[in-house]
Amino acid sequence: MKEKIGNIKENALLEINNAKDAKELDEIRVRYLGKKGELTLILRGMGALTPEERPIIGSLVNQVRDELEENIELKEKNFKQLEIKRKLETEKIDVTMPGKKINLGSLHPITQIMNDVKEIFIGMGYQIADGPEVELATYNFDKLNTPADHPARDIQDTFYITDDILLRSQTSPVQARVMENSKPPIKIICPGAVYRSDSVDATHSPVFHQIEGLVIDKNISMGDLKGTLEMFAKKCLGEKTKIRFRPHHFPFTEPSAEADVSCFVCGGKGCRVCKGEGWIELLGCGMVHPNVLRACNIDPEEYSGFAFGFGVERIAMAKFGIEDMRLLYENDVRFLKQF
Ligand code: DAH
Repeated sequence: MKEKIGNIKENALLEINNAKDAKELDEIRVRYLGKKGELTLILRGMGALTPEERPIIGSLVNQVRDELEENIELKEKNFKQLEIKRKLETEKIDVTMPGKKINLGSLHPITQIMNDVKEIFIGMGYQIADGPEVELATYNFDKLNTPADHPARDIQDTFYITDDILLRSQTSPVQARVMENSKPPIKIICPGAVYRSDSVDATHSPVFHQIEGLVIDKNISMGDLKGTLEMFAKKCLGEKTKIRFRPHHFPFTEPSAEADVSCFVCGGKGCRVCKGEGWIELLGCGMVHPNVLRACNIDPEEYSGFAFGFGVERIAMAKFGIEDMRLLYENDVRFLKQF
């Protein structure tokens, strides 16, 4: 019996030593120490031994079991260490390898200008107003004192959805919506997309962006309008920028003007950006027409106000020196990356 146990021990130790991995080691454990393992079977068969032999064989088996368990444990540790070593070797990080390039986007030039303009007017106490792009003709035209025979109302110029619903051709309808829904004093700007039935070329697009401004209060004058626009022009285009008004006509303002800014590239001497003029046309503006105030339930005897509106693309093109408007919509990353 002792010899048998000795053989079991020898074989087991040899197998443990030669085990190739944790799985094989586990199989060995089961084979020798498991419920039906060779050593366990000997313990079970102790009944057949003489009372003198029992304690001797019993303690021998226990001793061998302890020894095998110890060896298995050692071997396990060994495997674990080998595994860690293998991982360390294969999962090594080469800090000298070039990193993966992350393509970070940036704001579109139009969005940048919109944000700059918003910032400037918020600084002057304005609120940002919003209105629908699919608009009622009433707001786009009628309430803005734009009569039925005005050329802007022609289907050549405006995208109609039905006879009285259209894609807004200007941000001015937001003026009417704000006036109807709030009491003066009103100080808002409204940035947004507008639509006109223009064919695409270097300076036209059927969709473009405008920013509208409106101030209504007691005793608002043309001087307030000019001061506001001058302040805006300086902040947006540079402190040296000058502004000039030219008489113009808009149905919703009286008097109306177009405002030009001194060229911020050449300072007024004449260059490519201002096409030799020294001035760049910036926006349309004027004092809100009494008919518009009345149409929006504001008493023109008590309140007056000014309004202005300009194209964002035009400013972006001038400011960034972009010569073809189409570039702004083509979404060519090589172009957009430059701003
Ligand atoms: N809505 C005009 C346009 O699209 C721009 C404009 C002119 C807006 C004068 C105004 C204004 O508010 O007072 O050409």
